[in-house]
Amino acid sequence: MELPFAESYKIKMVEHIRRSSREEREKWIREAKYNLFNLKSEYVFVDLLTDSGTGAMSDRQWSELMLGDESYAGASSYYKMKNAIKEILGFDYFLPTHQGRAAENVLFSVLVKEGDIVPGNSHFDTTKGHIEFRKAKAVDCTIKEANDTMLVHPFKGEVDLKKLEETLEKFNKKITFIILTITNNTSGGQPVSMKNIREVSSLVKKYNKLLVVDSARFAENAYFIKTREKGYENKTIKEIVKEMFSYADVMTMSSKKDAIVNMGGFIGFKDPELFRKASVFNIMFEGFITYGGMSGRDMNALAQGLYEGTEFNTLETRIKQIEYLGTKCKEYSIPVLEPFGGHAIFVDAKRFLPHLPKEQFIAQTLGVELFIEGGVRGVEIGALMADRDPETRENRFPELELLRLAVPRRVYTNNHMDYVAASLANVYNRRNEIKHGMKIIYEAPIMRHFTVEFDRS
Ligand code: F0G
Repeated sequence: MELPFAESYKIKMVEHIRRSSREEREKWIREAKYNLFNLKSEYVFVDLLTDSGTGAMSDRQWSELMLGDESYAGASSYYKMKNAIKEILGFDYFLPTHQGRAAENVLFSVLVKEGDIVPGNSHFDTTKGHIEFRKAKAVDCTIKEANDTMLVHPFKGEVDLKKLEETLEKFNKKITFIILTITNNTSGGQPVSMKNIREVSSLVKKYNKLLVVDSARFAENAYFIKTREKGYENKTIKEIVKEMFSYADVMTMSSKKDAIVNMGGFIGFKDPELFRKASVFNIMFEGFITYGGMSGRDMNALAQGLYEGTEFNTLETRIKQIEYLGTKCKEYSIPVLEPFGGHAIFVDAKRFLPHLPKEQFIAQTLGVELFIEGGVRGVEIGALMADRDPETRENRFPELELLRLAVPRRVYTNNHMDYVAASLANVYNRRNEIKHGMKIIYEAPIMRHFTVEFDRS
């Protein structure tokens, strides 16, 4: 008999979670003004709000915490992180930051000015926020296939090269860099092939621009290259990662994802001049250049996390769990985005609740219903997150209206995945009874989804 797949770790410590009643959940979500970010985490049974900072560190990472060097300058922990970044990612210079958006803030303080254009593939919300905050514009050049949740494409996160070149031609003087997000979170955790990375890089060089890689889930991207792209099947994840970053000038990293730490980030540079310029802002916003918002122990855990996060077994275990959840959802006929993402299953809210108008925030409504059904928390990636156009102040309605179920690394078992899929199936079976969506009663001027308040419309 062929032996079945099994996780490449065992569990040494557990954290209790509590099931609640439907009545409790109805009350809690009403009190939270139907914003899932407003819920106390103890009210949530399976928390799939994000895979960011929610992973379980390994015994080796916890051991590294004890070895942390908390010196203000020149700590050994800084050098541990520096060596890991050089060895695994190939960057000579780096600045630690407290998380990914802080890396964006520091880097964009040097690279983005008013009126600039920043092309990319579905910029993440904080990335776009930091661009728009500086009165610059993000231009999305993702391939059009990404907008069809049923179309199977092995690298649905890719950049449309024709669109990128047209943008480079049209706005040449206003462009300093292109941002490539791997995997493409907003389009469904979809990967970008090595071929596409290489081609984007040569276009970027042709126009004398910089290639910045938003790398939060770079290791998952490498896994997809290994398992889907011809010529890479026999290469190790670490070899693939090295090649991916050989095409980049700069990387920003939210280490809360593929480096499996609860907090941390960094910027990797190849050009010492750019590193120098960014150092000024790092000192201003984050901390001295050898700690930048992180404690020594956290830098140690991060360095260890980079080694573990780029092991094939770690990635295979993770991505197979996402596949498991996706397959279960499909068995219940729940409309999910395919192929399944690397870090999450994305439910297609427009197909799930086709009778609700987009102005009523369909995916948010679905997220609220899923919480009421089973105490499962996901997150809206749709019109709410797309925010208003900074100039017209009109709502932006993206093609994709998704409820993301992001799975923390090494935290839940497949029984939890069964529970999530069954909760969703129950909502699906009563979908026609969901007659009303959401109406905003408060929103912030930028990145509104975190603090928005709703009434049921
Ligand atoms: N880039 C990408 C692709 C991300 O997914 C995130 C965060 C960031 C940058 C910002 O990093 O949170 O460390 O400041 N994504 C989380 C998510 C929040 O839930 O997808 P951060």
